[in-house]
Amino acid sequence: MVMIAFDEMCTCHAYAADKDFYAGLGNDRFVRWLREVTVDEAVHSMNVVNVIRAQYSDRFREVGTILDG
Ligand SMILES: [Fe+2]
Repeated sequence: MVMIAFDEMCTCHAYAADKDFYAGLGNDRFVRWLREVTVDEAVHSMNVVNVIRAQYSDRFREVGTILDG
């Protein structure tokens, strides 16, 4: 679950970092689409974080090890 949340966050950041590329394509639809998929990825991430909070709060201390592994 931690890796899924991390992956969703990374995807969200990657999309945001590509904003200039999509803006350069010359059609605002690309930027609007990028904004929507970025928000969608953020929602995915928060959903996973909420599951972790609700179901695995006793394992928070393991998160650092999981992400470093
Ligand atoms: Fe996603």
